[in-house]
Amino acid sequence: MKKHFLFVAIVIISAFVQSSCRSGGENPGRIFMPDMTYSNAYDAYSSTKFQYQSDTDAMSAILPIENTIPRGYLPCDEEIRKDEAKLMAYLFKNYFENPMLNHNLNDTEERARAASMLKNPIVKSDEVLAEGKAKYDIYCAVCHGKKGQGDGSLLVLADGTDGAYTAVPPAYETRLPGMKDGEIFYSISYGKNMMGGYYAQVSVEDRWKILHYIKDMAGIGSTSELAVEEAPVEEVVE
Ligand code: HEC
Repeated sequence: MKKHFLFVAIVIISAFVQSSCRSGGENPGRIFMPDMTYSNAYDAYSSTKFQYQSDTDAMSAILPIENTIPRGYLPCDEEIRKDEAKLMAYLFKNYFENPMLNHNLNDTEERARAASMLKNPIVKSDEVLAEGKAKYDIYCAVCHGKKGQGDGSLLVLADGTDGAYTAVPPAYETRLPGMKDGEIFYSISYGKNMMGGYYAQVSVEDRWKILHYIKDMAGIGSTSELAVEEAPVEEVVE
C-alpha cells in the first residue's frame, strides 16, 4: 500500500514538473507574473488607442511638436545666430544636399553653392587649432599625412614602400589656396571623388575646427570671414 502511494505521488509530481517546463519555441511554460513577461509596449509608430491627439495620427511614438528645435541644433553663440552665413554653416545639413545619400545629385553645383554662402562660424584661436589637430590626427592623417602632404600611413608605409590605398590626396598647400571655406567644408562633410565624407563621424563644430587647422598647415591665414576677393586698394597719389 505504501509502495503504491509512493508511485502515485511520483507520477503526480513528475506530471506537474513536466507541464511547467514544456519545451518548444518561445513558450516559457508556467509564468510567474505574466504581465511582466508579456509587456504592453507598442511597436514604434504603430497605432494606439490611448492618445491625446486626433484618431488619424494616434501613434505610439509622437512626432516632435511643430516648430520646436532639438537640443544642440541651434548654437547658443549670439555671434553665430546673428550672421546668416555662419548660421547656415552651423546648420549645414539642413541647407546642403548630401551626394552620399542622393546619387543623382550634382555635387559640383552644391559645392559651388556652399562656396558662395558659408562662413566659418568658429573663431580661430590656438585652442581651436589644437582641437582641430586632435581630430585631424584621428580622422584624416592616415591619408593626408601628419603635415598635410598627402603621404599618410595608408599611402606610404613605414618602410617607405607604397601602401594599399592608391588614390593620392593632394598636398593642402597646393590644393587649398584659392578655395573658399564653404567648398572645402562641403568636401570634408560629403566627400569628393575617392574621399568619403565625414558628416557622420565628425561634428559640424569639429569639421570647422579641422578646416582652420588644415588651412593653417597649408600656410593660409584662415579668418572666420567669407573668402571673398578683396578689392585692390588704390594707391593715393599726392
Ligand atoms: C581614405 C583616405 C582619405 C581620408 C581618411 C581623408 N581624405 Fe581627404 N582626400 C582624399 C583624396 C584621395 C582626396 C582627393 C580627392 C579629389 O580631389 O579627387 C582628398 C581631398 C581632400 C580635400 C580637397 C577637397 C576638394 O574639394 O578639392 C580636402 C579639403 C580634404 N581631403 C580634407 C580631408 C579631411 C579634413 C579629412 C579628415 C576629416 C580627410 N580629408 C580624410 C583622401 C582622404
